[in-house]
Amino acid sequence: MQVVSIRNLSRIDADGLIVGMYPGRRPAPGNTAVLKELGWARRALSDAGFDGDRGQVAVLPGAGASLPARVAFVGLGDEVDVEVLRQAAGAGQRALDTDSVATTLHRVPLDGAMGAALEGIGLAAYRFDTYRSSAKKRPALSVQLLGGGPPDEKAVKRAGIVVDAVSMARDLVNEPSAAKGPMTFADRVAGRAEGSGVSVEVWDADRLRGERMGGILGVGAGSDQPPCLVIMAHRPRRPRARLALVGKGITFDSGGLSLKTGTGMETMKTDMSGAAAVCAVAIAAALLELPVEVVSYAAMAENMPGGGAQRPGDVLTIRNGKTIEVLNTDAEGRLVLADALALAAEAEPDLIVDIATLTGACHVALGDKIAGLFGDDEAVPRVAAAAETAGERVWHLPLPADYRSIIDSELADMKNTVGGRYGGAIAAALLLKEFVADRPWAHLDIAGPARAEKAEHYIPRGGTGFGVRTLLDLVEGLS
Ligand code: BES
Ligand code: ZN
Ligand code: ZN
Repeated sequence: MQVVSIRNLSRIDADGLIVGMYPGRRPAPGNTAVLKELGWARRALSDAGFDGDRGQVAVLPGAGASLPARVAFVGLGDEVDVEVLRQAAGAGQRALDTDSVATTLHRVPLDGAMGAALEGIGLAAYRFDTYRSSAKKRPALSVQLLGGGPPDEKAVKRAGIVVDAVSMARDLVNEPSAAKGPMTFADRVAGRAEGSGVSVEVWDADRLRGERMGGILGVGAGSDQPPCLVIMAHRPRRPRARLALVGKGITFDSGGLSLKTGTGMETMKTDMSGAAAVCAVAIAAALLELPVEVVSYAAMAENMPGGGAQRPGDVLTIRNGKTIEVLNTDAEGRLVLADALALAAEAEPDLIVDIATLTGACHVALGDKIAGLFGDDEAVPRVAAAAETAGERVWHLPLPADYRSIIDSELADMKNTVGGRYGGAIAAALLLKEFVADRPWAHLDIAGPARAEKAEHYIPRGGTGFGVRTLLDLVEGLS
């Protein structure tokens, strides 16, 4: 994303312009000249049923005037906050669908307006066309900020890094599973980390055996693609805090021997969204030179029903010595996370946050747009606050102590499923809790919002990169 600031309309060199409007078709600040050029626009907007309400978009030709070919009017509503602005910018960019766009949205009087406008536009411009034979190489997105003085360099830099991080996560999620086995994923994120200052360590299957990581090995046993653990670290000189991030990285979830249905598998290439998020955040934290140590653990495995696969009834020994009876091989996320959480806890970080497309139950409970948030009283408010700033929605769910017995096993320390249909997201979170020792810990179940069925404002269809911005805001909050 290239950002320049331009003084007046005559300097615009873009295909499209995004203009904010308040209800009653009142223009947001910085648009007097635009509306003067487009004298007829207010009438046309009225005829099109556009009032300026939040979420409304109308595209008019800029023809004739000294304006870009198309002007997208985006409604801001009466109460504008940073997320409203981000979404409006995204909606405008999505409607224009161009690589070269100008806007005045950064002049909406609001702290962080420039960052929000740039994030919204940058995130909405995302494409994944690797597998289209018709794909053309596209130029980098160019954004021209019209008026309002020179751009705030810090805001521009941050927005660029945020957009790149979210796009990196989306790319990894959208990639077909055949092209992102655990070791291939590791190679790709290591490539992305080059030059960022982030250190990358990959534990292959042999190392995992030596390190007693029975959970990751158990899940990976049914696949021809061996599992691995990716550890990416941003270690600033005198960190103000030490954060561990843990991501579920199932590159394909067939369910294993507890095989899913055909339709159940259709979206399961996205089951590594948590891993993609934590890797992207480590790199972004380094590029932003945040004074917080961030160590990201991506627990990678492919859950397949091959001849070596784990069976229902098998018992795994996790890194910290605790044992889990595997009753359903499709509840595999908690098994790989258990190992990675136990390892993360050994380093005694100030805070551990894991993120995972963990349960269909959480998706059922909270729908497509809201993640489940679990954890203790120290960690939960921090993550909730970061999510609020980022404009990613989370909902705090309980970890009732007396529910712990639902994962009691006849044979081992615990079992990986409860058998019934109820409280599935809680059961999974309660199992994870067994592996964080006494560390402050939060868990994000992103089974719903990790992917979107349809595009909306700055969210594209497919992988959304959910969690990247929340976790990055969390790191910034700890700085
Ligand atoms: N990866 C799935 C969860 C999932 C489902 C994510 C739908 C995104 C969309 C997870 O591994 C899984 O299969 N969970 C099972 C657990 C059950 C067997 C206890 C589920 O939720 O059905
Ligand atoms: Zn599963
Ligand atoms: Zn899964």
